[in-house]
Amino acid sequence: KTYDVLVVGSVNADLVVRVDRRPAAGETVLGSDLATYPGGKGANQAVAAARLGGRVAFLGRAGTDGQGDFLRDALRGDGVDITHLITTPGPSGVALITLGPDGDNSIIVSPGANGRVTEEDVTAAGPLFAAASVVSLQMEVPLDAVLAAARAAEAAGARVVFNLSPPAAVPDELLALCDPLVVNEHEAAFLGASDPAGLLARGPRSVVITKGADGAVVADGDGVIEVPSPRVEAVDTTGAGDAFTGALSWRLARGDDLATAARFAARVGAAAVRVAGAQSSFPRPADLEDM
Ligand code: RIB
Ligand code: NA
Repeated sequence: KTYDVLVVGSVNADLVVRVDRRPAAGETVLGSDLATYPGGKGANQAVAAARLGGRVAFLGRAGTDGQGDFLRDALRGDGVDITHLITTPGPSGVALITLGPDGDNSIIVSPGANGRVTEEDVTAAGPLFAAASVVSLQMEVPLDAVLAAARAAEAAGARVVFNLSPPAAVPDELLALCDPLVVNEHEAAFLGASDPAGLLARGPRSVVITKGADGAVVADGDGVIEVPSPRVEAVDTTGAGDAFTGALSWRLARGDDLATAARFAARVGAAAVRVAGAQSSFPRPADLEDM
């Protein structure tokens, strides 16, 4: 295969301000200077995998505003193949992010060009699916495109890794193609499940529940395995879940079993939490040596 991972998904400019506390409705607070980082759940997964050494392609859309060039350059700079990153008239995806004192974040996403990713974009990229070992998906582009990508992956014999983030109603057909479905505890609750058995009952071939500093739980028909996370000082958790999923996808492409891939991915997610920004914080292999 030409690619370890094909990511179909979003690319956002992350506009980040630190605050001591978040404003209530009608209130104004002063924050830090603005920092702008390349982000978006899809692009984050792609960069996470590429920076670790993965061969990665990205399918999505970015706009014709200044952010579009910034985002294309960032992906290209990390060696991601952006042949199928389509330029769309209008604004790029933007995430308005406030960071609290504990590195906690709240995010508003304005989809921009991401909202224009279509089923036809997926069809047009047909051969890319056969060229990839793993197809990695999230929910910041329209469901039609995500479902088309999952079907194309299945038809081409690629493994589907799906992060249900942000949480949204999805058809059982999509869940049934996931191997694994990756969710955090909120996203699991959204699916009406509080444990791996409940999630598996929704139909995926395997599941990973990420639990932040508490690591992850992986499960498939053969059993449930707890995966620890290294302890780190949290500076900025933005995109740590994407780093986890991108790393997981890459290791699955390389032939790891799910628990082994998740153990590695937990180290990548923890490393990302130590540094500001999403992609700007994602580790190279050397950054993982102390964890
Ligand atoms: O998961 C983190 C990402 O969510 C950020 O990079 C932001 O762009 C939003 O999409
Ligand atoms: Na980070």
